[in-house]
Amino acid sequence: MQDYHDILAEVLIDEKTLQARVKELADEINRDYAGQQILLICILRGALPFMVDLMRHLSVLNAIDCMAISSYGSGARETTGNVRMNLDLQTNIQGKHVILVEDIVDSGHTVAHVLELLRTRKPKTLKVCALLDKESRREVVVPIDYRGFSIPNKFVFGYGLDLDEFYRNLPFVGVVDLDRYVSNEK
Ligand code: IMP
Ligand code: MG
Repeated sequence: MQDYHDILAEVLIDEKTLQARVKELADEINRDYAGQQILLICILRGALPFMVDLMRHLSVLNAIDCMAISSYGSGARETTGNVRMNLDLQTNIQGKHVILVEDIVDSGHTVAHVLELLRTRKPKTLKVCALLDKESRREVVVPIDYRGFSIPNKFVFGYGLDLDEFYRNLPFVGVVDLDRYVSNEK
């Protein structure tokens, strides 16, 4: 696997900017849910670092759970409308204030699918908190209640987002230099 320096076209959002924005999002959630309890749902694996940083700034009482979703039916860097749940929640969400935490909303199919599913389980409220929003790629309408950053249509990695499962640990969000990136999976 290549060193990330070799495939980094540019740092899109640096660590300091990310951390400051994550704190702002947590402050918004603290205000909106003051005096209440919430359940954060992390969509594995991309939203992990984001959710961990976010929850550290929460003062509202919060519980967490995770679910794993995958898109399939085409290449790794293309989304399709085919979304499958690989790991379900351990928690009964009925009557709870739920916030879905996602790394990036691209076509919107993943979040749209998860929202549809979770609504059938009758949460009291259901909101979406997404770190990144690639609006120009949207194929289905999804409500984003807490949005970290709107980003251009570029393939990004780091801070939870992977390139063939690697580089999720980087503390910044970078743009991939696709001309120099040699996929392990080829
Ligand atoms: P959607 O269903 O098209 O909205 O796709 C969302 C999922 O695609 C995200 O949860 C990511 O896992 C993945 N994804 C979309 N864009 C990127 C990117 O630029 N880098 C890494 N993963 C991405
Ligand atoms: Mg993801």
